[in-house]
Amino acid sequence: MKKDIKEAVDFLQQGGFGTPEIGIILGTGLGKILEKVAIEVEMSYNLIPNFPTSTVEFHKGKLIYGSLAGKKVIVMQGRFHLYEGYSLTDVTFPVRVMHALGISKLLVSNAAGAINQSLKKGDIMLIDDHINLQGGSPLAFKGVEEMGERFTDMSAPYDSEMNAKLEEIAAAHTIRLHKGVYVGVVGPQLETRAEYRYLKIIGADAVGMSTVPEVIVANHLGIPVSALSVLTDECDPDNLKPANIAEIIAIAGNAEPDVITLITELIKQL
Ligand code: HPA
Repeated sequence: MKKDIKEAVDFLQQGGFGTPEIGIILGTGLGKILEKVAIEVEMSYNLIPNFPTSTVEFHKGKLIYGSLAGKKVIVMQGRFHLYEGYSLTDVTFPVRVMHALGISKLLVSNAAGAINQSLKKGDIMLIDDHINLQGGSPLAFKGVEEMGERFTDMSAPYDSEMNAKLEEIAAAHTIRLHKGVYVGVVGPQLETRAEYRYLKIIGADAVGMSTVPEVIVANHLGIPVSALSVLTDECDPDNLKPANIAEIIAIAGNAEPDVITLITELIKQL
């Protein structure tokens, strides 16, 4: 793994990537923040050594280096998901590469379903904690202890300082920002009514198919992380409508201006 990371890092540095301070992973329907980034260089995932082999969807995935709100950032436009057939070590490989390039903070966004009925379509939730229902760990591999603590502490996986700043920024910009627990599932199928009931009982406020492995690896590497979920559908088991993926993507897009405000204002303060 170390050699694979070094090859990717050497390639990116030779291609013009500098030393980013902050890594950003963009979720489904949340690409417009790139309009605010002064892009210096970008690289398609399928050109980067040891990046997971690209699927059709990932021909458009790329890593972008530039400046945002006065800081050097590296942005993942598109992420890898377990449901595309990748392993947990594959989907988190880019986090390890961004760390090796120099990031000291990670910001993550995603689209998620609202389990907590007080959260509505189009709302934003700051992730306070998570539940891993992805059936494995991105740290379960030989040699993990050479890269960080194997028994990574998860008592506070999301950074309390950055989260407090995000709440202040939301209040100052009258953005309604909920706070709650995200449960990560594999997907790609959506949940049954019985599963939504179960997820509510175990303490989830929102459900999605990403983020948890990336956050575990950020904790393994000691990178403070904050994550925002845009709630794209209401998962009320007693009144469940068939899922509409086009609508999910459109709703994520509607919430985008507020997500952009939260991220850019936070970066100014880091
Ligand atoms: N379930 C899982 N993932 C999701 C959902 C959902 O309802 N909505 C958006 N991503």
